[in-house]
Amino acid sequence: MEIRSAAVIGAGVMGSGIAAHIANAGIPVFLLDIVPQDVKDGRGNDRSVVARTAIDRMLKTEPAPFMHKRNARLVTPGNIEDDLEKLAGVDWIVEAVVENPAVKADLYARLDAVRKPGSIVSSNTSTIPLKNLVEGRGDGFARDFMITHFFNPPRYMRLLEVVAGPDTRPGAVEALSRFADTRLGKGVVRCKDRPGFIANRIGTYWIQAAINQAMDLGLTVEEADAVVGRPMGIPKTGVFGLVDLVGLDLMPYVSRSLLNTLPADDPYRAIHREPELFTRMIAEGYTGRKGKGGFYRLNKSGGGRVK
Ligand code: NAI
Repeated sequence: MEIRSAAVIGAGVMGSGIAAHIANAGIPVFLLDIVPQDVKDGRGNDRSVVARTAIDRMLKTEPAPFMHKRNARLVTPGNIEDDLEKLAGVDWIVEAVVENPAVKADLYARLDAVRKPGSIVSSNTSTIPLKNLVEGRGDGFARDFMITHFFNPPRYMRLLEVVAGPDTRPGAVEALSRFADTRLGKGVVRCKDRPGFIANRIGTYWIQAAINQAMDLGLTVEEADAVVGRPMGIPKTGVFGLVDLVGLDLMPYVSRSLLNTLPADDPYRAIHREPELFTRMIAEGYTGRKGKGGFYRLNKSGGGRVK
């Protein structure tokens, strides 16, 4: 099979970037999110205005000229409640909604009812095992389903983790991997269906360890990132900058999902913490780059110290 069209569901940090990247490969792509009928934004604007936030977010996620000037026309941002039937025509549907198994399950039931038979459905989940995602769905869904885990930002990060289940059609995995390699410029790594796959199984451990150390030693974010940034091979952001990029609000979902699925003796359990500072920052909207800022911008809650 060949992938000639795509849809991305969830126009957040990842979905908007993935849609932009697919569009720039010359593939028509729909980008859908939730825009409730009666929604009003803070200024009282109604739904049609609020619906623009999906494309605004997309344009902010990637450098604007990249989308604006070239292939932006290929991306049609829309509302999932109105536009679900658009999925009937597409070859590949990427799910990039919040890291919440119940939300993903509900969405799969709806899109399975309208999608084209044989179209590929893939999840961008960071940590949820594939076997949990297909649980309770029919055989047809399991045959067409896999995980395609992009990294942030999707345009620049070359790695793509692909996880297939025991029922996934080998032809679908082959088609998707070939497409990702030749059209999206990704380096595909096939992973086993284990919690956090490869990169996040390792990454969440060292991110948590670095945060714990910084808090215990009372370091500023700058001091902490000076140690665990460039010297550890993450020169642009460091650990706290990476948390800002990923989104603080995603962190509890990721850690809870891992705690639900990791083996009893996994070392991550011993170091896991959900710092009160993080909880407060999320509650106040300091979710990182996608919010009012995070550790590196407008960090009212933290006052510069990691405690
Ligand atoms: P986000 O919170 O930025 O965006 C999620 C979007 O999904 C929101 O716009 C929300 O309105 C939408 N949404 C929620 N329920 C929906 C539904 N039923 N139908 C349509 N849209 C819905 O989340 P983010 O960070 O983009 O994460 C998305 C997925 O990608 C998660 O599974 C996450 O674990 C994974 N991921 C995130 C990375 C990151 O760096 N943030 C990196 C790699 C994977």
